[in-house]
Amino acid sequence: MKIGVVGGGQMGGGIAELCAKAGMDVIVHEVNQDVAEASKARIDKSLSKAVERGKLSEQDKAAALGRLTFGTDLGALADRDLVVEAVIENEELKKDLFRQLDDIVESPDAILASNTSSIPITRIATATSRPESVVGLHFFNPAVVMPLVEVVRGVLTSDATVEAARSFAADQLGKTVVVAKDRAGFIVNMLLVPYIIDAMRMYEEGYASKEDIDAGMVNGANYPMGPLALSDLIGNDTMLFVAEALFEEFREARYAPPPLLKRMVEAGLLGRKSGRGFYEYG
Ligand code: 3HC
Repeated sequence: MKIGVVGGGQMGGGIAELCAKAGMDVIVHEVNQDVAEASKARIDKSLSKAVERGKLSEQDKAAALGRLTFGTDLGALADRDLVVEAVIENEELKKDLFRQLDDIVESPDAILASNTSSIPITRIATATSRPESVVGLHFFNPAVVMPLVEVVRGVLTSDATVEAARSFAADQLGKTVVVAKDRAGFIVNMLLVPYIIDAMRMYEEGYASKEDIDAGMVNGANYPMGPLALSDLIGNDTMLFVAEALFEEFREARYAPPPLLKRMVEAGLLGRKSGRGFYEYG
């Protein structure tokens, strides 16, 4: 199976790595050569970590790297069977990419997927002449470790596309798949985002320290990390964007992004991307 990944950042890089480890030929598309090199270096590092942890042999690492190509020409994706878009959460940017992919990707059976966490698949699909082949494939961060993939069915997505997306994630990548309807938050973020932003409100109101909030959920509910550390891992800018999307769709106070989150993003405390997040906030 020939895969294209548009955007080789944290999520796209993880998806590309998973596909290459599963034996697929992968082209990672990036905006320029420097970013493409950085993506390659991150995947190489993650594969080395898998070797160190005894999850992958040196030979399998080399084979996976051999299946990955990094480039800046979107036209190189013409022969792909499945393209996964994993660029930033910007609707116009995603639509523009899907418009181009619609022209570029040759096979009428190819699937065009988006890893969006908040933009309706149906709206992205309208940028193409083949909305029946457009589907959501929502991976979780870190994609190489987290078992879940949400397959998101747009209004016009065909049964065949949903089944092909499910089979790709479950049978080829070994993920646990849930099928979600095309509304903001899908299944997981609809539950996870209010929890994380409630933790921010609790901190902002001075009810508890950030350390105690995180320690509370790690030790009292057995979560692998606390909600504030998790927001840093996801990226606080992404958190803000997803909370805004939920609020816009449902207009319920529980989805309204807390002022603290807005201030942090404005201050560049983006968590994962900047290396500075909640624990740098005074
Ligand atoms: N390749 C292969 N395996 C790897 C790996 C790599 N590069 N890096 C780590 N692993 C494996 C480890 O070997 C280990 O496996 P084991 O359990 O079999 O020993 C496992 O992954 C955990 O790795 P670590 O020991 O390095 O790390 P931690 O135990 O500290 O866990 C964590 C780190 C996985 C991030 C954990 O803290 C966690 O699960 N946090 C919650 C993450 C989460 O909730 N993510 C979802 C966010 S929501 C989202 O993404 C949606 C978006 O739309 C907002």
